[in-house]
Amino acid sequence: MASDLIPPLPSSHAVGFHSPESASLWARLSTYVSENKVVAYTIGAVVIVAGAGGIYYITQSSQSGEKGKKRERRADKGKGTDKDKKAAEDVKSQKPEEPLPEVDEEIVEQLTLEQRKDYAGKLKAAGNRAYGSKDFPLAIDLYTKAILCRPDPIFYSNRSACFNALSEWEKVVEDTTAAIALDPEYVKALNRRAHAYEQLGKNSEALLDFTASCIIDGFRNEGAAQSVERLLKKVAEEKGKKMLAERPKKLPSSTFVSNYLQSFRSRPPPPGLEEDAIILEGTGDYHLRLGLEAVERKTVEGYEEAGREFETAVELETNHEAYALNWRGTFKYLQGDAAEALKDLNGSIELDPSMTQSYIKRASMLLELGDREAAAADFATALEHNADDPDIYYHRAQLHFILSEFAEAAKDYQKSIDLDRSFIFSHIQLGVTQYKMGSIASSMATFRKCIKNFESTPDVYNYYGELLLDQQKYLEAIEKFDTAVEMERTAKPMAMNVLPLINKALALFQWKQDFTEAEKLCERALIIDPDCDIAVATMAQLLLQQGKVTEALKYFEKAATLSRTEGEIINALSYAEATRTQLEVQEKYPQLANRLQGMTGLGR
Ligand SMILES: *[C@@H]1O[C@H](CO)[C@@H](O)[C@H](O)[C@H]1NC(C)=O
Ligand SMILES: *[C@@H]1O[C@H](CO)[C@@H](O)[C@H](O)[C@H]1NC(C)=O
Repeated sequence: MASDLIPPLPSSHAVGFHSPESASLWARLSTYVSENKVVAYTIGAVVIVAGAGGIYYITQSSQSGEKGKKRERRADKGKGTDKDKKAAEDVKSQKPEEPLPEVDEEIVEQLTLEQRKDYAGKLKAAGNRAYGSKDFPLAIDLYTKAILCRPDPIFYSNRSACFNALSEWEKVVEDTTAAIALDPEYVKALNRRAHAYEQLGKNSEALLDFTASCIIDGFRNEGAAQSVERLLKKVAEEKGKKMLAERPKKLPSSTFVSNYLQSFRSRPPPPGLEEDAIILEGTGDYHLRLGLEAVERKTVEGYEEAGREFETAVELETNHEAYALNWRGTFKYLQGDAAEALKDLNGSIELDPSMTQSYIKRASMLLELGDREAAAADFATALEHNADDPDIYYHRAQLHFILSEFAEAAKDYQKSIDLDRSFIFSHIQLGVTQYKMGSIASSMATFRKCIKNFESTPDVYNYYGELLLDQQKYLEAIEKFDTAVEMERTAKPMAMNVLPLINKALALFQWKQDFTEAEKLCERALIIDPDCDIAVATMAQLLLQQGKVTEALKYFEKAATLSRTEGEIINALSYAEATRTQLEVQEKYPQLANRLQGMTGLGR
């Protein structure tokens, strides 16, 4: 258990995330949640993972004291090519022709300790010379003899350098492992073994060694730190691809689905599908309408049923095939199957090129697949069909927003508002965009106006609260979240949007470090929407901040399984891997636990 490994910190550390080093930890973690949220939730339609990336525990904390100095000395020993050259020259200028001692096991047994040391030194020096002239087999032989005289971690490490030069990775691993067994904090050997592991495709092992090396070294070695980042990404990608291939297609949380669907202005169904229209049971149209009704329930079960109904409707054929394909594609997209979704939307557009919503939806799919130009082309085509459709401007604005083209985004949101003022999300997003552009005053004004005009819409309070939270106006922010929660609860107790609950948790956590209350709020969110990845990821953060690393890991892993796209999965998994590696380092190097803690702000 993590708590066994990590001694409790003095209480002055209890609010430690105000210290600069852990502030950056917090920044990285909150980036994880907020970037995902911006991308997946605020945006609704267009989903790109910005890739929060980064490892949360790498901080530039300066280590001081004895331990730091000792490590510096060790590092010096391993560094300095000038010194090495000089040493090699010394060896040459001495008596290069002096015969080297002949050794084997029997001979060594007869030697005194003094003699062994002397022999070993000579053999090693000769080994270094051979290495210098790139005669690796000879160098290996000489280091082997030196080891025979005296097992010194440096000799093993020296020999591993030869194997490294010969790309004999298994042997590198063997020798560096021997060196590390003799000196567990031998950074050079750790880095070399990590490199060999990476060459062998053992990425998790490599990650573990590089991480340990970074911690021992106080994160002074840029190269090792970069290697950790690289390997985290590699490991997360491997696992993420596997996870994606193995798991069944499934809808994301109801919060996500609702947010996506409400990013389109609601429209009545086409004539013939109205609530009071008479439709023959068992026909495609009948199932199509059942699907539409299920969507309206806004619950997990409702969305799942809707997905099935649209599937049946298309299979049975309907009088509204373009419309049915649009819906089936939408649900496939929500399930993370962008390729299949694209087929349906293509089909829908072919049957009814005038349905602008199909272009918009296809644009978001194309964007998710990384095809910006095609997405932009779809918006252009949609506008050719109807230049006055406010949805097109809203979603094109989302595209700009994601690409950080805020001025263009603001223009499109405004146009969408001019065409139809009644759609709340255009206003909200305009306010958020103004905020991003640094126009805090106009942003706040936009939100105050929103509250006046949409006083009973919870989303306004939620997003206003987020901006207030960003300005550290905690009290006001929490007040807004409370209002949003209350409105959500009253309006749809069984299907409420849980984002304000999670935001309140984050606010309490940032403001008062009130873990208990924050956890409670996340738990409440998870009861309402068990698959909400944002709630799960927030929980992971809260646990991590309290040093409950093992539990945090579980939540990060769960967040990965709940993520919808490959990018999101990989992002969540890289946090899980970083956490797991850290746990493993603590288990393998209990003596490092304290240092790790000092550096990361973890473990309280
Ligand atoms: C052998 O080890 C010494 C001490 O760490 C180092 O100075 C030297 O460069 C090493 N030689 C090789 C070939 O790794
Ligand atoms: C659908 O249409 C888009 C845009 O025209 C095209 O890029 C894509 O290849 C098509 N996909 C399928 C599966 O037909």
